[in-house]
Formats: sequence, structure tokens, C-alpha cells
Amino acid sequence: MFHAVVGAQYGDEGKGKMVDYLAEKADLVVRYQGGGNAGHTIVNQYGKFALHLVPSGIFHNHTISVLGAGVVLHPQQLVDELTTLEAAGIDTRRLVISERAHMVLPYHIWQDKWEEEQRSKKVGTTLQGIGPAYQDKVGRFGLQVGELRDLHRLRTRLETAFQAKINRIPGLASYGTFDEIWTSLLAARDKLLPYIADTTPLLYEAHQAEKDVLFEGQLGIMRDLDWGVYPFVTSSNPIAGGIGAGAGVPPTAIRRITGITKAYTTAVGEGPFPTQLNDSYGTYLQDKGHEYGATTGRPRACGWLDIPTLRYGAWINGYTELALMKLDVLSGLDQIQVAVRYEKDGTQYEWPLPAYDMELVQPVYETLPGWQEDISDCRTFADLPANAQAFVRQVEAWVGVPVRYVSVGPDRAQTILRGDMETQA
Ligand code: IMP
Repeated sequence: MFHAVVGAQYGDEGKGKMVDYLAEKADLVVRYQGGGNAGHTIVNQYGKFALHLVPSGIFHNHTISVLGAGVVLHPQQLVDELTTLEAAGIDTRRLVISERAHMVLPYHIWQDKWEEEQRSKKVGTTLQGIGPAYQDKVGRFGLQVGELRDLHRLRTRLETAFQAKINRIPGLASYGTFDEIWTSLLAARDKLLPYIADTTPLLYEAHQAEKDVLFEGQLGIMRDLDWGVYPFVTSSNPIAGGIGAGAGVPPTAIRRITGITKAYTTAVGEGPFPTQLNDSYGTYLQDKGHEYGATTGRPRACGWLDIPTLRYGAWINGYTELALMKLDVLSGLDQIQVAVRYEKDGTQYEWPLPAYDMELVQPVYETLPGWQEDISDCRTFADLPANAQAFVRQVEAWVGVPVRYVSVGPDRAQTILRGDMETQA
């Protein structure tokens, strides 16, 4: 079955853990957008890894990991990740990179920094060159990974692209030279060539053979280029609608869509975040949830769960189910607030608004009773305290989507599969 795992909030919802959990059964794990701005910290029998580009399916011997055409990748960063994985004894030959994926080149990283400096109001990007690489892709100055095969053509194309970039943004010339870019690209090229392929037959055949294919979204709907809090967004489409374009599969092939949400909300980067808490509750969530960015180390802003965002994603992404992560972090609170709507100028809103209006909304909260018990050892839904069960059921009712998984800790074993939904793991 073709199954998508997408972020239902602002990213960092715990997709890495769920993909790792679900990849046990998957024949392929496919990334369809984003790049090195992603960050998963994975702890397993091989060690501790900070993966930015390689899908976490790489740890499963039977799983092929795919970087689809919609991904942008920094060649040297990918080489470094592969080298680290190989040093830990992992067979990386099960990674396939679409020849159509675009490269993030050093001048994209320079441009990311330069652009943030130009803005009166920063986006708060990860400074990984993601936005500029997608700009070049759309502007038809980008270089596809498959172009690494023909050295002579590659050099000409890179010279043209670099010159065009410097002509448009002369300030970038002071960051480095063409020769440096060329040398670093050559160094990565030899290592990457064996991984590059046409991924279309792979996915077509997987579909024909009814294989289990997991599509791993990076970030979440609120950072989607079109449906998030523009301009405080990433430059690709993390929503499930991005899978068709980014992985090259028909939208009708995706049969199952799991929205991943924390039991509260976090965000890194700038832009509106209606339920953000600047009080002791916010600090409580940040400390207890260890809320620091995996790529940038920035502290994540924390706030209450936001139902309008989940409701919006239920429609736009078409969730067939939710995974509710980090429920254990809420243990110990007397009461828990949940935003069920927003209000602005006397009007109530069920769904998020564009950023310029989102900045002005007030959340309309409902209060639910908390629970004091540590739930990290709970393994069935029935093990959870009554108030925790009621919290989960209330979220389902508000969003209108069943919560199939409840996560109560970072370990794979700390995942509750709802008893009444056990027929399909
Ligand atoms: P960019 O994707 O680096 O251009 O950053 C755009 C926005 O997405 C900023 O708000 C970043 O903080 C946010 N962002 C990018 N990647 C991640 C991630 O992996 N987790 C959380 N936020 C991210």
C-alpha cells in the first residue's frame, strides 16, 4: 500500500519516530520534498545519528530509501551522511537518488544568508540554502543530480548558473569562488554517482507488485509554501498533495495518510503561532519535551494544541488517521488547554488564515482536566489514565479523524496502537 506520513503542524512533530516505526514493514521509504533542513535524531543498535537527507528507512535491511525529484540535496552533506552511516556498518547501497532531484550548491547557502540579511522581518530559515535552490529550480537555473554524470556538460552548466547568480547578486562574489564550488562538487560526485537513477520504474513496479511504500514528508502543513504561514514557510510543499509532483506517483495511488501531531504545538523560525505560551507552561513544555531544533539547535517555541490547524490539515492532506505524539509530556499538568477556534474582530474562524491575519487572531480555548501519572510505560490505550484517554477521544471528535497511534516516549516500543484499530499496524 502507498502510505504517506505528513506533518500536521509546524514540523518537528515526530515524523522520524513514526517513519522508523512504520518502516519496519515498508519495502520503500520515499522523501518527496525538502532537503538538509530536515533533522531526525535516531538512536538505535548502530549508534546515534543526526540524519538530514537520508531517509530513516536506511536502517532496515529490507527497505529501499528513495530521494525523489522534489528533494533538493547538498552533495557534500549527503556524502558526509553516507560516510557516517557506513562507518557504523550500515549498508547504504539501498539508497536511490532521483536523477531529477536538484542540487543545493554553495552559492545557495550564501544566498540564504544574504537574503535573510535583506529582510526587515526574517523568515528564520535553517540557512541550508533550501529556498535559493528551489528558486533556481523554478527559475530554470538549477542543476539536477543526473547532470553529475557528464563532467564536461556539468562544468558549462555550473559556470552559467554561477555567473548568472553573481550578475544578479554581485554581493555573493565575496563569499567564494567558482573553483571552490567546482572542487567540492567533484569531490562529492564520485561517491554519489552509483546512487543516482531513474526512480520512476522503481515506484511503478512497487505499485504493480502492491508493495508497502512509505512517503515521508518533511516539515508540516503550516510551513507549506502555499498553505502555511507565508512568507514564514519553506520553499516546497510538505502537504500530501506534494507527493504526486515530488515523487512522481499518481495522487490516486496514496491510500493511507497519517497526520503526525504532538499533543501540544511547537515551532522554530518566525511567523504567527497563535497558541504560543510565553509563561511557565511554555517553559514546562520546552523542558519536559526537550524542544530544541535538530538541525539548528534553536529552542522551539511551545504552546497548546491547535485544533484549527489539525482540522485544516484533515481536509487539505486528507488524513485517514492521526498519530498523537509526546502525550507523556502533558503528564503532571492540572489542566490542559486546547484551542478549538480562533477569533478576530468578533468573528470566529475554524481554520488558519494567511499569516498577516493569523498574527491578529486570538485562540478560543477549551479546558480539559489533566492527569498526574507518568504514562511512559503504558503500552495499550486502556493503560492510560481516564483523563488521558478522554483527551485523545476529544481530539478525535474535534478533528473528525481517528487517532490510531499514541506515542508516550522516544523509544519505538513506547507507541500505543489503538486496540480497536489493531487489524492494520
Ligand atoms: P527553510 O526550510 O530552511 O527555508 O526554513 C523555512 C522555515 O521552515 C523556517 O521557519 C524554519 O525554521 C522552518 N524549518 C525548516 N526545516 C525545519 C525542520 O526540520 N523543523 C522545523 N522547522 C523547520
